Amino acid sequence: MDRILRIDASPERNSSWARSMGDYLIKGLEVRSPRLSISNRDLSQILMPHIDETTIAGFRRSPVTMSPRERQATSLSDLLISELQSAEVLLITASLYNFGTPSSLKAWFDQIVRVSRTFDTREGVHMGLAKPKLAFVCISYDEAMVGCLRQGTPPDFMRGHIQYLLDFIGVPHVFVIGEPAPNKASESFEGDGSKARDQIDTLLDRFFGIVTASSLTSLADQK
Ligand SMILES: Cc1cc2nc3c(=O)[nH]c(=O)nc-3n(C[C@H](O)[C@H](O)[C@H](O)COP(=O)(O)O)c2cc1C
Repeated sequence: MDRILRIDASPERNSSWARSMGDYLIKGLEVRSPRLSISNRDLSQILMPHIDETTIAGFRRSPVTMSPRERQATSLSDLLISELQSAEVLLITASLYNFGTPSSLKAWFDQIVRVSRTFDTREGVHMGLAKPKLAFVCISYDEAMVGCLRQGTPPDFMRGHIQYLLDFIGVPHVFVIGEPAPNKASESFEGDGSKARDQIDTLLDRFFGIVTASSLTSLADQK
């Protein structure tokens, strides 16, 4: 499990807590899996287009019968799906916006959830076709907003949404690490600011092996 696709959704590139969680996870992977190769898709860097009528028409056709306009309208989806299908592990970092999935990440899912490519129905049976079978999802939110409207109202519609979508395309093992961002800008994820670090360490030990002193030394030697 050496090929990672990392998707970052927070627009706050320099202060994002979810991105810090992702950075910590990647560092933990690097010491456990020295041959790691990481591809990045930063959703703050491009305005992810909404799928439109032509894109959807193209999604419904095979590539040979597509018009030039449909081929053009589905080319980004082709690229994003090829990034996904080249990965063994998916890492998503995202901020909770208005109690749900940020629109850039939803737009990414709209591009990659595609019939015959990442899911299909054969003889009435649903099949997920995504190559990665393991995903880590780092979610950051604001503790002050939890339960602020009504006690008992679920404040996070993103967690279940992402888990369901990944399961739908055939990523069965999805681990969500959620943590409120600290109020103080001075707190750092690698300082005392985070409780999620232990959770990340435990997950990485489980899937990629326990870090030993010798693995840390060999990583330092490579740098
Ligand atoms: C437009 C916007 C909407 C937000 N909506 C919510 C929300 O519904 N619930 C919540 O807990 N936090 C909400 N927040 C706070 C962010 O989730 C929080 O600041 C988080 O740390 C942002 O993630 P990041 O630090 O990775 O960018 C919102 C922030 C913004 C800018």
